[in-house]
Amino acid sequence: MKIVRKISDIRLLLANERKKGKTIGFVPTMGFFHQGHLSLMELARKENDVVVISSFVNPTQFGRDEDYEIYPRDEKGDCQQARKVGVDYFFAPSVKEMYPETHLSWVEVEKLSEPLCGRFRPGHFRGVATVVTKLFNIVQPDTAYFGEKDYQQLLVIKKMVKDLNFPVKIVGCPTVREKDGLAMSSRNSYLTTEERETASLIPQALRKVIEAFESGERDVNKLVNLAKEHLSSPLLNLEYIEVRGPDTLEELSKVEKEALFQLAVRVGKARLIDHIILGRKETYF
Ligand code: PAJ
Repeated sequence: MKIVRKISDIRLLLANERKKGKTIGFVPTMGFFHQGHLSLMELARKENDVVVISSFVNPTQFGRDEDYEIYPRDEKGDCQQARKVGVDYFFAPSVKEMYPETHLSWVEVEKLSEPLCGRFRPGHFRGVATVVTKLFNIVQPDTAYFGEKDYQQLLVIKKMVKDLNFPVKIVGCPTVREKDGLAMSSRNSYLTTEERETASLIPQALRKVIEAFESGERDVNKLVNLAKEHLSSPLLNLEYIEVRGPDTLEELSKVEKEALFQLAVRVGKARLIDHIILGRKETYF
């Protein structure tokens, strides 16, 4: 596995691979790998001749008061894990390499970036869309892999690729969870033992909602209240629970066929998100 830090170097290396007719699979990340990240790399490994990953904690997707400074980093450990999966290129540029001067160009995906996490993290999806655009232009992958865990992010990227005609296929991969159902996240490392135990209320609440939905409950308020009841703990600070259309994120009062049931919760220093698509059983757990 080659570790590459310069944009010009990765461009050259990948141009060479492309010349040989190799297909390129790409997994963008912010590092501090867990099995969720690895599952994307494993799929990319299966489906492509060459696997490229990026590890870059992107400052432009963090708000002023967010956790950019303390975001966990472990490049050595990440490299070991990526090597085991069979990654070919580990692209880890510096902030200066990615944003050399004052950055003036941005990619904005309207509407889809506005509700849910967008409302609580203004500018977040603009930062994501911009860095993913830059990475796509640098790597020029055939296929790129993203987790369904960050469902709104996946929607935003898919829309951006379609609207702006990126020649990249986007593949969404299922959420990998801990034994108790908590979605894996680099941010889980912020949790104290007590907070970690309490965090298992999140998957429990989602399971209750699934149960109610599968028993016929279609009223959005009732489903939201059910989850709220299960999330009542002094250690949990609910940011939002919302039910929206799974494709365009329109507001719903009743679930017809399928609906995105998503929540964001603050636990200690961590902001955790999770979701299920009601009516889409493959997202159940
Ligand atoms: P990061 O949080 O490091 O996640 C990298 C990729 O792993 C994303 O596609 C994310 O959805 C996926 N992922 C995270 N947790 C997962 C889980 N439990 N199961 C399955 N997949 C999971 O998302 C980002 O980085 C950044 O926003 C990025 C796209 C790299 C742009 O900076």
